[in-house]
Amino acid sequence: MKNFAGKICFITGGASGAGLGQAKVFGKAGMKVTIADVRQEALDNAVEELVEYGIKREDILAIRADLTNRDEYKAAADKVEEVFGGPPHLLIQTAGVNSFGPIEASTFDDFDWVMGVCLDHVVNGLLIYVPRMIKAYGHKEEFHVATTSSMGAFMAGPTTGPYSAAKAAVNNLMYSYAEALKPYGGGATVLCPGNIRSNIGEAEKYRPEHLRNTGYHISEGTIKTLNAIHAQGIDPVELAEILKEGIENGRIVVLPSRDPSAWAGQLRAQHQIIEDYTLTAAEREEKAKARMEEMRKRFAAAGDGKDAPPPPMWEIPEGGEPFGLARADIEWVDPNKKKK
Ligand code: NAI
Repeated sequence: MKNFAGKICFITGGASGAGLGQAKVFGKAGMKVTIADVRQEALDNAVEELVEYGIKREDILAIRADLTNRDEYKAAADKVEEVFGGPPHLLIQTAGVNSFGPIEASTFDDFDWVMGVCLDHVVNGLLIYVPRMIKAYGHKEEFHVATTSSMGAFMAGPTTGPYSAAKAAVNNLMYSYAEALKPYGGGATVLCPGNIRSNIGEAEKYRPEHLRNTGYHISEGTIKTLNAIHAQGIDPVELAEILKEGIENGRIVVLPSRDPSAWAGQLRAQHQIIEDYTLTAAEREEKAKARMEEMRKRFAAAGDGKDAPPPPMWEIPEGGEPFGLARADIEWVDPNKKKK
């Protein structure tokens, strides 16, 4: 998709972080922008921020909806057609939440919340919107679906189970849509950021009441630590510009850099880890050791920076606590994995 001016854009999670950055960038590109989000106050603030950013108030529509709920998503989609006269030419599904803890301590609530927002809402949007987009624009006008996934789609750690599973599924969905939409003149892109300067660390504060039975240790301190980490992330407007460039160039996977090869070393290492699962434990250990040694040499040689190790990601800030631990009262969890 190359022409944005005068077209319609729908952004989920558009009240904050990456989604708000996307609203600024695609709004500035002349699109009529709907931001759909579960938090009314954040939406109200976002509208003012967008107007201050130079986007015309009449080109902004804010809709409060829990997009994991299919009826609420459908009602939002109907509202967009009523106000802007058609379905979006560009659907960007960016709403997301995260929660960290040992996967073996996870509850159904942990899975339902994280996978509900990170995966189910994406499915809802695709099933509700894609038929409408094909009917309105297929073979006639450019249209595109994009989703904000994560680097977590390529790597699963022991404390990111539901999130990594959801994001990996989202990537695969977008690869399917990229092929499926071609005959209609449509396209698909999946954005895979590393760390974003956003409010995702605060997400636990609005976890729905009926999904609050978590197996993880969550506190003001863990939220503080997460906020400190995300404060070091990429600027959401910069990230949205990278996404726009990716969409314009027909990229299916967009990495969080203007030079995607900057991430190639890390992606190769991740794929190698997956390939290594086919080896015996002893062979795998041997290879892992050799890989570490190789990396140490490469970093010591201080090349062109492309394969340089990421800067130290984070330290526990004052008043912060480590995250990724299980609740202290879960007796059977390994003592090193739970809040003491
Ligand atoms: P954010 O918290 O600033 O924005 C996410 C928005 O999603 C919030 O405004 C929130 O209200 C909304 N949302 C949550 N549940 C919703 C629901 N049920 N219905 C409608 N809206 C809902 O966080 P951020 O970081 O901007 O997140 C955007 C996307 O980027 C997410 O998909 C996240 O997984 C992804 N991501 C974030 C990274 C980071 O470091 N912050 C790294 C990689 C990916």
